[in-house]
Amino acid sequence: MPSRAEVSYFGAGPAPLPTPVLEEASKVLLNYKNGGIGITEISHRSADATAILENTISGLRQLLDIPAEGPDGYQILFLQGGGSGEFSASVYHMVGLWVEKRRKQVVEQLGDSASEEQVLEKLKEEVKKMKIDYLVTGSWSLKASQEAARLVGSEHVNVALDARKANAGKFGVIPEDKDWSLTQNKDDSAMVYFCDNETVDGVEFPAFPSSLENGGYPVVADMSSNFLSRAVDVRKYDAIFGGAQKNVGTAGITIAIVKNTLLPPHAELAKSDLLRKLGLPVGPVVLDWPTIAKNNSLYNTLPIFDVWIAGKVMDGLLKKHPAQASMPRIQGQQDESEKKAASIYGVLDKYPEVYTVVPDKSVRSRMNICFRVGKEDERDAKEKAFIAGASERLLQGVKGHRSVGGCRVSNYNAVSLESVEKLVRYMEEFAQSK
Ligand SMILES: Cc1ncc(COP(=O)(O)O)c(C=O)c1O
Repeated sequence: MPSRAEVSYFGAGPAPLPTPVLEEASKVLLNYKNGGIGITEISHRSADATAILENTISGLRQLLDIPAEGPDGYQILFLQGGGSGEFSASVYHMVGLWVEKRRKQVVEQLGDSASEEQVLEKLKEEVKKMKIDYLVTGSWSLKASQEAARLVGSEHVNVALDARKANAGKFGVIPEDKDWSLTQNKDDSAMVYFCDNETVDGVEFPAFPSSLENGGYPVVADMSSNFLSRAVDVRKYDAIFGGAQKNVGTAGITIAIVKNTLLPPHAELAKSDLLRKLGLPVGPVVLDWPTIAKNNSLYNTLPIFDVWIAGKVMDGLLKKHPAQASMPRIQGQQDESEKKAASIYGVLDKYPEVYTVVPDKSVRSRMNICFRVGKEDERDAKEKAFIAGASERLLQGVKGHRSVGGCRVSNYNAVSLESVEKLVRYMEEFAQSK
């Protein structure tokens, strides 16, 4: 039986966690802070739980330089329901904001003498114009756009970019912004949504999309699989979310970073009665960002153990990357991710007759490295041999997602340089033996 230290694990999520965090976790599961009660047994409303929440929030604020106060500050929320839950939560929220803003404009246009029915009739007309813009660059943004269509109707979903159309039906490129078709009237767009790193397809936005810089569109991004792996200017986003189970912690919590201007008291959302009258959906309260924000993420029972794990992972990053003047705190982690990714892509590029990287060079993910082994007619056998050989050397989790096949190496923060070196040596060996 291999030991944990002998195995190098490249799973896409759930993914490896730092061993010291898990060692401490195994202790606190039995006895938290010598109180004789395990961490999963303490109340989520206890002083200990509050301290855990505060520590994790503070770690995240430091790592990503997230301001707290004022309209330009952000709330950090912990939710359940995974990244998928946030596909829905973001729609409910951004639609609620859009409708309330438009309702106020209608009231202003019609004047004080207008009846409620008149406002409603006019608003019904206005809602027909509402769009949610999606940049579809891979399987997860596609799923998010499909969820939006399921919730509000496909007539409201504008797929401003379907990257497959520029790449023979497959994901793997991000066409230039000038080729996107965002909703022209920005006021009609409830949000522009994109997935910063597509876990299944290995496609990552190299930088924040320039057309969304000061573009006037509300921007929401899914960072589930590249959270805390590079410097992010959160001020460019209205909301960012990510499931914890890749770079941050265990499956069970999702983190949402939501700008104060999107939340009460800075913003108002449409009331549920109005949404119902307009034929728009009312979301479950557990996905409601204002409710979660108002209750400091404790509206209902929060898995505090998962928050503790995330906090410990963040503590580890803060320790590893001390503050340096004029450098984002997470920069050191970005450098490390880039270095590891460069050595894996390096060996893939060195043997083009054996390996083919799936996405275009310009959008290669640093987190999920997707490639094929062998020429098309021999791929099945070659990939099986590659995966089996890797497994013999205790290099685990390199099989591609079932929907796309091939191989995928996930290079999350807890994957050590040493593990990457072992993998690269194996990839060299495999290529040379062919
Ligand atoms: C980028 C991205 N978004 C969303 C999800 C969905 O997350 P969950 O399984 O937590 O719902 C995943 C899952 O792997 C993902 O990689």
